[in-house]
Amino acid sequence: MTHAEEPWFKHAVLYQIYPRSFYDSNGDGIGDLQGVIEKLDYLNGRPDSLGVTAIWLSPFYPSPMADFGYDVTDHCDVHPMFGTLHDFKQLLKEAHARGIRVLIDFIPNHTSDEHAWFKESRASRDNPKRDWYIWRDAKTDGSLPNNWESVFGGPAWQYDKTTGQYYLHSFLRKQPDLNWDNPEVRKAMHEQMRFWLDLGVDGFRMDAVLYISKDPEYRDDPVEALSDFKKDQLAAQWNARSQNGPHLYEYLRGMAEVARQYPHKFIVTEAYPHPWDKVAGYVRFYENVDPRVCAPFNFEAIMADWNAAEFRHIIDNFQHALELEYMPVYCLGNHDRHRLATRLGSQAAARSAALLLLTLPGMPTLYYGDELGMIDGKILPEQVQDPYEKNLPGHGYGRDPARTPLPWNDSKHAGFTTGQPWLPINADHAHVNVAAENTDPESMLNLYRKLLAFRRQSPALEDGEYHGLETPEDVFGFRRVSEDEKLIVLVNFVNRTIELPEKFQQADPVISTHDGPLPAAITSLRPHEAVILREV
Ligand code: GLC
Ligand code: CA
Repeated sequence: MTHAEEPWFKHAVLYQIYPRSFYDSNGDGIGDLQGVIEKLDYLNGRPDSLGVTAIWLSPFYPSPMADFGYDVTDHCDVHPMFGTLHDFKQLLKEAHARGIRVLIDFIPNHTSDEHAWFKESRASRDNPKRDWYIWRDAKTDGSLPNNWESVFGGPAWQYDKTTGQYYLHSFLRKQPDLNWDNPEVRKAMHEQMRFWLDLGVDGFRMDAVLYISKDPEYRDDPVEALSDFKKDQLAAQWNARSQNGPHLYEYLRGMAEVARQYPHKFIVTEAYPHPWDKVAGYVRFYENVDPRVCAPFNFEAIMADWNAAEFRHIIDNFQHALELEYMPVYCLGNHDRHRLATRLGSQAAARSAALLLLTLPGMPTLYYGDELGMIDGKILPEQVQDPYEKNLPGHGYGRDPARTPLPWNDSKHAGFTTGQPWLPINADHAHVNVAAENTDPESMLNLYRKLLAFRRQSPALEDGEYHGLETPEDVFGFRRVSEDEKLIVLVNFVNRTIELPEKFQQADPVISTHDGPLPAAITSLRPHEAVILREV
């Protein structure tokens, strides 16, 4: 297959838009679909665009917004707050006209408790939709059906007095789990996928997929897993029996099969593997689903400390485990994790992370605002929106800090809205904003642009092989090699200068994260410097 014949996702860079926070077109303080349309030029289609080739839109469906749209009441429509289906169609058309593919968030595991299906299901024990959700009796001693915990804190079972049974909610009480073991549910969810595929979306980001298959006997989660609970954000997702059940891949294959009925569609799954299972856990997704249309996000880099040895371990091992047709999908940020620049602790490190991400194989994924070097916003207790923080306050689980509005300029509400923004604008928006960074050749934004432009025309980065590389301590590096281009990538993970061995000094510098003219040869890496070199 030539480069041109390959499906688009083999050479794409994905950009995640959290629609509430991207751009507000009508002054109600909340971003919307017309806002995204107005700002598409920022992403691609013009010489000064960022240069990403695909977007993933977090949910915009009708929803009571208990989990900001991850609680859906109608899978085939748009929340009036975000616009209309007509706006969505326009968005699709305008995005495609600019060479931007559109992935939408699909939430298979649960619906809102206000969804018509659930209203029916909870109405009576013999309702035809009863078995579309997961209902259980209390144990004979009156206790909960089992010890499963909700990801957002507290038991995963909610008593419903109408019918005297408990329903399962792996996430919020307002997000009852669908029963994927029921073939009618699978069929209904496939229909929702087809609705959007028929409209012309290019694929899906599949939410929380591990949960769609559970332990068939609903046994207790092992206590060891529960004691790990909450050591880390979303740690409950490591629980052993409330997820990762025996039918997981079968159900995912079913969804991949739907996508396969259309040309060039792509699914990326959200699945945080068990900590004891990392590389093997990801590889099983490729092996068991359908690597022609579906790949898992690799979340290791979002969870790891900024440490060269750790990154070498993660990336070398993962690349080594991948078969040729398994496309990696790396990411360094999303709407559930602290901001990249905050996690790394400095803009200099965030710059080197940008270079690393955009030189890795596969489909790199950027989280909106990271291209500006945004840090976590400061959210006062009375400003908290995220239910995670409301349920378990003070542990740092809250996701609002990473969801603050994208600052477009230095005006009052950062040009995001003319109204009152739903989350506060970041305090540093006077200089961390699109307009200011546009005019500063040394800004984070211009570094991202440069890296994306270079990647687009580089056969080694877009298609080349990945080879591990021996480097000095605290440096992680690799080679990217195609027939007629051989590149070396080196990333200094620490805040001091590191001398480079001879072999690197013969290569030609191409891009550095440090400003100023490139030297003829690079003999050392400055603090937190990352470089691309061309082998001669
Ligand atoms: C995923 C989403 C997260 C959401 C949860 C429940 O982890 O990324 O934002 O709260 O699923 O749908
Ligand atoms: Ca709005």
